[in-house]
Amino acid sequence: MTNVTPDSIFQVASGFMASKHLFVANEVGLFESLAEGPKTLDELSARTSIPERTIRILADAMVALGFVERQDDRYRNGPVAATFLSGRTPADLRPFLRWWNHMSYPAWMQLEASIRMGEAVVGHWSEELSRIFSEGVEALTAETAEALATTYDFGRHARVLDLGGGTGSFLLAVLRHHDGLKATLFESPTVAALARKRVVNTPLEESVQIVEGDFFTDPLPGDHDAVILANVVHMFSPAHNLALLQRIREHVPDEARLLLVDFWTDPTHTQPTFAALLAGGFQIVTGEGAAYSEEELRGWLQESGWQAMKRLPLAGPASLITAKTAS
Ligand SMILES: C[S@@+](CC[C@H](N)C(=O)[O-])C[C@H]1O[C@@H](n2cnc3c(N)ncnc32)[C@H](O)[C@@H]1O
Repeated sequence: MTNVTPDSIFQVASGFMASKHLFVANEVGLFESLAEGPKTLDELSARTSIPERTIRILADAMVALGFVERQDDRYRNGPVAATFLSGRTPADLRPFLRWWNHMSYPAWMQLEASIRMGEAVVGHWSEELSRIFSEGVEALTAETAEALATTYDFGRHARVLDLGGGTGSFLLAVLRHHDGLKATLFESPTVAALARKRVVNTPLEESVQIVEGDFFTDPLPGDHDAVILANVVHMFSPAHNLALLQRIREHVPDEARLLLVDFWTDPTHTQPTFAALLAGGFQIVTGEGAAYSEEELRGWLQESGWQAMKRLPLAGPASLITAKTAS
């Protein structure tokens, strides 16, 4: 006799149902409605303009998953939904769920084709989808950005360059914690435009320069003594990463530091679990990305004129690997 059960198969296989229920609850504003106070199905239906019969399916699924609590006939947000999905706190993960619902979920329908062919299956993104993507990445990485700003000693630096810096979540967190630091965000034109909108008319506007271009082919802004590369390496092949690290080395002074933030895995690429799963997403979107191990990164750094220094945990599965220029 064996104790082996198929439970884990059923649990993992039904994961897509849990995800989609959560995405839809977010889309229809279930958690925002409940942030106003506990509600009956009748009240939820009126507030969300969803038929009572179907809002019940959604609300009960959220209770089953632990995001919503039910007492008698009233539903209320549980602590996780109240903190991250109600829109009432700065820790707002609603854009992250919107991104995965609108872009990742449909894209993952093509995982089999992407795995079989080894190619990207995501087509051109409209401006609207680029915005949903950037806001989603920003929400997902906000805690990591805050951790970088407080974990790494930026006191030794004067000018920080964030390559592929998205809408500025890392740079803005760093600047908020370090007065007097100057910063440059380098991005593709579409995302650079979103970053400009985010920075304009804020107290940090004077401290940040936004430069648009392609970091593989355009000149990189010079004269920066720290370079952030956050969640960029996982988008590219080893050959492209090596070329990028070499380009950065050629553009920085000898005292510069390179700060590589990513879901660095163990040598087997199977831990952290989140990184092993996300590798499928990197493949779908870029056709060449993957989750990489600390050992792989150390090898590329060595080949490109850098020397890896420390690895520091940030938030959740994300960590920082620092490097200095090789002497
Ligand atoms: C996964 S996002 C990470 C954004 C940000 N660093 C973060 O962690 O929140 C990768 C970013 O790299 C930018 N990017 C990709 N290829 C690029 C290139 N060749 N030149 C400039 N930016 C690029 C993308 O526009 C995107 O915003």
